[in-house]
Amino acid sequence: MNAFQPGELVLLTSQKGKTWLVRAGSGSFSCHLGNVDLQDVVGRQEGEWLETHRGAKVFLFRPSLGDYVHKLKRRTQVIYPKDMGAFWIYGDIRPGDVVLETGVGSGALSLALLRAVGPKGRLISVEVRPEFAQLARKNIEVFFGKTPDNHTLLVADVTALPLKVTVDRVVLDLPEPWLAVEAVSACLRTGGLLLSLSPQVGQAQMVCQELKRHGYANVTTFELLKRNWKIDARRARPEDRMIGHTGFITVAKKIARTSEVVPTIRDPEAPVPS
Ligand SMILES: C[S@@+](CC[C@H](N)C(=O)[O-])C[C@H]1O[C@@H](n2cnc3c(N)ncnc32)[C@H](O)[C@@H]1O
Repeated sequence: MNAFQPGELVLLTSQKGKTWLVRAGSGSFSCHLGNVDLQDVVGRQEGEWLETHRGAKVFLFRPSLGDYVHKLKRRTQVIYPKDMGAFWIYGDIRPGDVVLETGVGSGALSLALLRAVGPKGRLISVEVRPEFAQLARKNIEVFFGKTPDNHTLLVADVTALPLKVTVDRVVLDLPEPWLAVEAVSACLRTGGLLLSLSPQVGQAQMVCQELKRHGYANVTTFELLKRNWKIDARRARPEDRMIGHTGFITVAKKIARTSEVVPTIRDPEAPVPS
């Protein structure tokens, strides 16, 4: 068993599921349920609880990546866990892969990509705004406890950057992703996958056109909707509110430059035409 150490991130969780991110051992914490001394977290196990001075229980957990993404400091729109999961699986990002990501924003997607490539992989991130790069660095360091050795964060405009690397996957989260296709395609190995997220369908359309022009096959765009449900003894129905729209995800596969015919590969999940 792995007890909480001083300085570790802890997700305090009320019995109704409200959460707060704190550090073990640093000061006290107060909320509507009462106060707890965070020194009392040190030495306890995940899943144990503290009692506030008013007698309410707060459970102790390490934040999951999804929990942390909802709590991290942000100055940009971030990619939400539902879309991170799609990037990981539809992008087939594997341990040991080398991934190029741009822009970095607040670093939320960087966290998921670092998890997916694992310690034997590498993440190269490019962000044009130094202040966002600095914030992302901090968010990544807080989550992993240190800056991962396999992460390189470059402050640069990706469209103007001659990148002398070969990567297995490219991930774009840019306002004008089509402008980056030429530069990043020079780094992506043949057979590698490119993923892009855009909030507006016009952006997705532009990126799809550019990808087809640059020799990509199986260019597919989709969006994912996630709806939580209220379920208890008396009711089982959807929540009143949901995050209705985040973005359109485009996935494409790079073909060999020498190919004369761009193969049309059917989306394996599309309905079979009758
Ligand atoms: C929506 S944010 C990315 C959010 C990030 N994926 C996350 O999950 O936190 C878009 C970022 O792209 C950056 N950006 C825009 N144009 C760029 C360019 N040409 N090169 C590099 N970064 C760029 C912006 O500064 C911004 O930080």
